[in-house]
Order: sequence, then structure tokens, then C-alpha cells
Amino acid sequence: MRLVLVGPPGAGKGTQAQFVAAHLAVPNISTGEIFRANVTRRTDLGLQAKQYMDAGRLVPDEVTINMVRDRLAEPDAGDGFLLDGFPRTVPQAVALDKTLADLGTALDVVLELVVDEDEVIRRLSGRRNCRGCGKVWHLEFDAPTRDGICDRCSGELFLRDDDKPEVIAERLRVYTRDTAPLVDYYGPQNKLVGIDATGPVEDVTLRAIDTLRSYEKS
Ligand code: AP5
Repeated sequence: MRLVLVGPPGAGKGTQAQFVAAHLAVPNISTGEIFRANVTRRTDLGLQAKQYMDAGRLVPDEVTINMVRDRLAEPDAGDGFLLDGFPRTVPQAVALDKTLADLGTALDVVLELVVDEDEVIRRLSGRRNCRGCGKVWHLEFDAPTRDGICDRCSGELFLRDDDKPEVIAERLRVYTRDTAPLVDYYGPQNKLVGIDATGPVEDVTLRAIDTLRSYEKS
């Protein structure tokens, strides 16, 4: 299956992507994760992306589109993929359709995680990431037993620079302005399906898998 996960910052895309991609046996491709890995390694791409990410703005389309095009050309994405965080502008969606058409294929479904803004702010402000193993915690919904320490690897937990209140506000503005219009792009193609992404993580995963069943090829 060729699947895109969309939803506002903090909707739970990364959390759900790992379970849904494992269920579908497809690679989980997160543009945010690719950018963050490049920032950590201080590559040219990372240095370029960091200034935009820290400000809560989008990395320019041409940089992001080329990066995803290269990633989709890798052999493991040949039979399907889950894209988390891409596309998030209409030009990115157009470029994705073209890339897939060039490869002789097309997107199957765009799954939208629907969560209201108050919940998104709660999720983002309580999120803590592990510097060691990358596990994502939440101070209220999935709290580690020791303050500031990862239960899995004892690594240090930190607040992402873009999870500071002023940056969250900018990311939400950018989402409404640049990413929400994807609904109008995918709606008429009959590829967009939304699910309620509130409630326990496991319930959302079951809802997602159940919804995707009708798009799985037999
Ligand atoms: P990216 O990493 O994609 O950020 P995002 O879309 O803002 O999404 P997040 O990672 O913040 O949240 P999420 O929806 O994955 O939520 P999560 O599962 O962690 O992008 C970062 C930046 O990179 C962008 O701002 C931009 O600069 C750049 N970028 C990336 N892609 C780009 C593109 N295509 N074009 C241009 N620039 C791009 O969950 C959040 C928290 O909630 C966690 O603590 C989790 O434990 C908790 N949680 C999850 N589900 C539940 C639940 N059901 N109940 C309670 N808590 C929950």
C-alpha cells in the first residue's frame, strides 16, 4: 500500500506511523525524522533545514521534494510505503503524484488524523524525546517512571526546540495556511479518509487499520 498520513503537528502521526507501517509491512518514511537526523549529523541538508524547523516554518519545497524523490527510489519503497509529514503543501502533493506516475504507480490513500487544537497543544507541550534511543514519551499520557530519563535506554529526555510554545503557535498557523488545503487537493481524487485520532493510542491504531482495510489490495 502507498499511504500518506496527514494531520496537524502533534496529532500523533509519528506514534501511529510505527504501528501502521509495521502492520502493512511497508517502510515508514518521516520527513521530519530525516531532517532531524541530518541536523544531528550536521550535514549540509541538516544545517539548511534547522533554521526553518527551529522557527516552525516549512523547509523549502524543492529541498524536501528532491529528498523524498530520492528516498522513494530506494528498493524498499518499491512495493509500498507510509509517508509521515509529506506532502504538506499542494506543490509537494503535485510533485509526489508526478514522481509516482513516473514510477508507473500512484498513491492509494491519504489518512487524516483528526484532533482539535487544544489536544494538539497538550500533546506537543508534554512530549519528551529520548536523546539515546529516540523513543517519544508524554509527561501526562505516557510518562517515564524517572523524571527526565528514558525507561528504555536510560537516555536523557529533552523538549524539541520546535515544541516551545511560540514555535507551536507558528507551526499551527503554517499548518492551517499551507497543509490544510491538501484536503481540497485529495478530496476530489477520492483518496482522503479521516479518522478520529483522540483517545488511547491503541484505539486510534485499531481505527486506522480498520479504515485502511478497504484500501488494501487483495
Ligand atoms: P514533523 O516532525 O513532521 O512535525 P509535525 O508534523 O509537526 O509532527 P510532530 O512530529 O510534531 O507530531 P506527530 O503528529 O508526529 O505527533 P507524535 O506522534 O509525536 O516536522 C518537523 C519540522 O520538519 C516541520 O516543522 C518542518 O520544519 C520540517 N518538515 C518536515 N516535513 C516537511 C515537509 N514535508 N515540508 C517542509 N518541511 C518539513 O505525538 C505527539 C505527542 O502526543 C507525543 O508525546 C505522543 O506520545 C503523544 N500522543 C500521540 N498519540 C496520542 C494519543 N492517542 N493520546 C495521547 N497522547 C498521544
